Parts: sequence; C-alpha cells; structure tokens
Amino acid sequence: MVANVKCSVIPAAGKGSRMYPLTKSVPKELLPLVGQPVLLTVIEEAQRCGIEQFHLITSPQKPALREFFTPSEDDNPSHPRAFTMPQVDFVTQEVAKGLGHAVLQSRDIVGNQPFVVQLPDDLYHPEDPLLQAMLDVHTVTGGCVVALMEVTTEEAKMYSSATVETADLSDKVTGGHVVFKLSNIIEKPNPEQVRSNYALMGRYVLDSRIFEILAQTPPGRNNEIQLTDALAAFAEIPVTEGGGVWGVVSRGRHFDTGNLAGYVQAQIELSLEDEYVGKTMRKFIQGLADKISVNEDTQAGE
Ligand code: G1P
Repeated sequence: MVANVKCSVIPAAGKGSRMYPLTKSVPKELLPLVGQPVLLTVIEEAQRCGIEQFHLITSPQKPALREFFTPSEDDNPSHPRAFTMPQVDFVTQEVAKGLGHAVLQSRDIVGNQPFVVQLPDDLYHPEDPLLQAMLDVHTVTGGCVVALMEVTTEEAKMYSSATVETADLSDKVTGGHVVFKLSNIIEKPNPEQVRSNYALMGRYVLDSRIFEILAQTPPGRNNEIQLTDALAAFAEIPVTEGGGVWGVVSRGRHFDTGNLAGYVQAQIELSLEDEYVGKTMRKFIQGLADKISVNEDTQAGE
C-alpha cells in the first residue's frame, strides 16, 4: 500500500522576468488573481486533495513571500476573502541552478515520503480534479506521476516531452482521466526529438528516491539541473522495483500565469466565476463581446 501524500514542494525562487515590471517589487507568485495571490489558488488546489504542508523554495531576494505567510494584524477573519493560513515553511535556494536543483533543496525537509511538486506558473482550472487523479494513480502504481497536456508539435519544444503508452487505469482515477506510462522523457526537445503530442506540465507526484537521482544529475538543457532528466532516469527503473513514471492527461483549462497573456486570460476567466465579482464581470464581458461583434459586423459591411 502506497503512503498518503501529505506535502507539496512549490518552487518559487524564479525572478519572474517575463512579467517585468510587475515583478520588480512583487514576486510573481503574489500577483493578484481576481481576489487573492496566484500562489494561494495553487495551494488551495493541493488542499482540496488533503495536502496540508507546503514547502516553498524561495530566493533571498523575495522576502514578500515570507511576509505574506506571517500572520499579522491586517488579517481579518470576517473579511469575505479571509483565508486559513496554510502550513508553509521556506527553503532558500541561494543560486538558481534549475528546477531539479530547486526541488533537491527540499530533500531534508521532505525526507523519505512521496511528495507533490506544483509549479506555480502552471494554473489549472479548479473544475479539473487533475491533481487528485494523479494521486489516485500514484496509490495504484507507486513510482512517479506527472501531469500531461496535449500540445502541438510546434509547442512541444517549449516543454518536456515523452513517449506515451496507454495504461489501463482510467477507471481507477477520479474524473476518469486518461493515463499513460511514459518513457524517453526529454526536456525542451529539438523539433526532431519531440516524442509525442504530450508535454509534462507543472504537476508531479514524486517518489522520494528522486532526490538521490537529482543529486547525481548533471546540468542539462540551459546548463541547469533538470527535474525532467531525473524523471527520465526514474522511468528506467523497473516497475517491479518501484520505478516507472505515469502521466495523467489534463482535461480542464490550463493557464501559464508566468506570461502576461496567460495571466490576463486566467484573470478574466476566473473572474467570471468569482463569488463576489462574477455577476458584474459576466455582464461587463458580455457587453464587451457585443461591442466587438458589432464592430466586426460594421467592418465586414464596409
Ligand atoms: C518547466 C519544466 C518543463 C515543463 C514546464 C511546464 O519549464 O522544466 O519540463 O514542461 O515547466 O510545466 P519552464 O517553464 O520553467 O521553462
């Protein structure tokens, strides 16, 4: 029986340069998403799956992250958007040497138990129980489980890519998601190296033996220690020895909140469903859409 997964590691040491100047003084993880920081929405996703402990990998240049999670007199429990302070601790990544290096920093604090990794730039729409489905797969298979998204061959080179083989597990997972067994995993492939139209996208359930592999993983793509390279090695370990990597295909909307277009899209879509501003926003967007279609009609008739 595979142990319950209790903690999530969230790498949050990046500079957020794609979002400059928004990120000049505010860490990108704290940028607002409708009524709360992006990071809180990511934490809530894991909390819905029973995960209670969060390990944030941060850089010394981002003190605001610690401040946000320190209770203060500004916290007002009767505010409509009051939140329960999650259990968060911090691990400092002194130098940015890649995602694999960031995850490796949590080795001591995570210890010898399976854990989740959530990349906070990858935001999944809350209606898709993707992370729960990944945890379900992990309960059945052990090993490591990753989130997959269908991408075009053109897009595939921006992510990690894997060869996929159907795994007959859909009836065992929440939401009936499609599950694959993965091999030949590669970080940011050149066009001729793209393995399939599936990319690894921002969510991982990892066996703690990944730390041992990461500690021995040399710098790869961009001269950084890549989590993907460690997963590629883990996929080679036979299933009978607790190895193997499985992928669960996302079925909901995904937003890359680390780039401006994705961030604004997430803002608009989630605002339409927000408990407090949703009604106003739906009316507003409807009005805008009507205006756009009238303008297009006018142009077409000219
Ligand atoms: C990271 C990972 C990559 C993954 C991507 C999307 O890349 O290294 O394997 O496909 O996130 O989750 P980055 O976006 O940091 O370049």
